[in-house]
Amino acid sequence: MRVLILGIDGYLGWPLALRLGKRGHEVIGVDNLYTRNAVREVGSDSAFPLPEPEERIAAAKKILDVNITFYRADVKDYEKLYDIIQKHKPDAIVHFAEQRSAPYSMIDVHHANYTFINNITSTINLIYSILKVDPTIHVLKMGTMGEYGTPNYDILESAFVEVEIKGKKDKIPFPKWASSWYHWSKVYDTYNLMWANKVWGLTITDIMQGPVYGTRTEEIIDEKLRTRFDFDEVWGTVVNRYCVEAILGLPLTPYGKGGQTRGFISLEDSMQALTILLEHPPNQGEYRVVNQIHEVLSVSQIANMVKEVGESLGLKVEIQHVKNPRVEKEEHYYNVESKILPSLGFTPKKKMKDEIRFMLEDLMPYKSRLEKFKHVIFPRTDWRKGRS
Ligand SMILES: NC(=O)c1ccc[n+]([C@@H]2O[C@H](COP(=O)([O-])OP(=O)(O)OC[C@H]3O[C@@H](n4cnc5c(N)ncnc54)[C@H](O)[C@@H]3O)[C@@H](O)[C@H]2O)c1
Repeated sequence: MRVLILGIDGYLGWPLALRLGKRGHEVIGVDNLYTRNAVREVGSDSAFPLPEPEERIAAAKKILDVNITFYRADVKDYEKLYDIIQKHKPDAIVHFAEQRSAPYSMIDVHHANYTFINNITSTINLIYSILKVDPTIHVLKMGTMGEYGTPNYDILESAFVEVEIKGKKDKIPFPKWASSWYHWSKVYDTYNLMWANKVWGLTITDIMQGPVYGTRTEEIIDEKLRTRFDFDEVWGTVVNRYCVEAILGLPLTPYGKGGQTRGFISLEDSMQALTILLEHPPNQGEYRVVNQIHEVLSVSQIANMVKEVGESLGLKVEIQHVKNPRVEKEEHYYNVESKILPSLGFTPKKKMKDEIRFMLEDLMPYKSRLEKFKHVIFPRTDWRKGRS
C-alpha cells in the first residue's frame, strides 16, 4: 500500500512511518515542523533531542532499511498538498498534521485562532485534494476521545445515535461536548468529514483516540530513531509529564481532585491499531468512527502508578494535587464502547504500569537536559485567564 502521512515529524507520525515501512508499505510524509517550533515557543523542547528530518530519514534507511519520501510543506497550502497527492496517488492518507495541544489553544485569542485555522483548513484542503485526485483514497483522520467530553452515558462507537424529542424519533450525530478550543477544532473536523462523506461519498476512518503515552515501539531500536517526547504543561500529556516530574524530583501534580478519567493507549498499541485500520479500510463510501483506547484510568491512579514504579527504581516521588487550571469535571462517569478494533484483531500488548518503567529508564539518561526545562512543567495556562 502507498501511504501519505501528514504530520510525519510528530510523536505519532514518525513511529507510524517506521512501522508501515517495516511492513513493506511505501511511505511518503509531509510536515512543516510546526510542533518543533511551537514547543520551543513555550520555552520547552522534546526530551529526546530530535535530528533534522533528513537525518532521521537517513537513519531509518540505514538501521531499518525503510525508505521515506519527505516533503517539508504546509498542509494549509492547498496547491502544495494537491500537487503531492496528485504526484504520488496514495491508497491512504493519514492526517495527523494539526495543532494538538489543548493548553496551547487556550493561551489567548491568537493561539485559539491559530488552532482553528490550522486544523480546519488542513482537513478541508485534504478533502478537496482527494476529491480532485481520486475520491476513493482512504482518509485516516486522527480525532480525539476529548471530542465526546465526559458524558453521564456510555460513549458509543457510532457516528449517529437515535433520539426521541417530544415524541418524534430521528438519527443525529453522536453528541460531542469538548473541553478546549483544540478539542472543539477536532469536533468541527469530524462534522466536516461526515459532511464530505455525505456529499461526495468519501471513504473515511475518523479515530477518537485517548491520550497516548510511551517512548518505545518495536522499531525504535536506536537513539537516532526516537520519536519526540513532550512533557511540559502545554505539550505534555499526563503520563509523560508525571514521568519527567519523577525523574527531576518534582512532585507529581494531578490537577484538582484527580478523578478525571480517560481511556489511555500506549504508543506501541496505537501503532498496532493504526496499522490494522489502514490494512482493513472501511467499505468504499463509508464513514467509520473508531474509539481507540485501552486502559481506562484516572489521573490520580496514574500518579500512584508512577510513584510506585519510580520508587522501585530508587527515585523519591511525592504527589501534590494542584489547583486545576482547566475547566473540567474532576469526578465523573466514563464508559467507552470499543468493538471495531478488537473485531479486526487488535490485541493491546502494553500495560501502562510496565510502560512507565521503560519510560523512566529511557528518560533517565537525559536528566541533565530535562533539568533545563524544570520551570515549564508546573501548570501556567489557566482556562479562565489564558497564560500567566
Ligand atoms: N498524542 C496524543 O496523545 C494524541 C491523542 C489523541 C489524538 N491525537 C492527535 O493525533 C495527531 C498526531 O498527534 P501527535 O501527538 O503526533 O502530535 P505532534 O504535534 O507531535 O505531531 C503533529 C505533526 O503535524 C505537523 N503539522 C501540524 N500542522 C501542520 C501543517 N499545517 N502542515 C504540515 N505539518 C503540520 C507538526 O509539525 C507535527 O510534526 C494530532 O492530530 C493529535 O491531535 C494525539
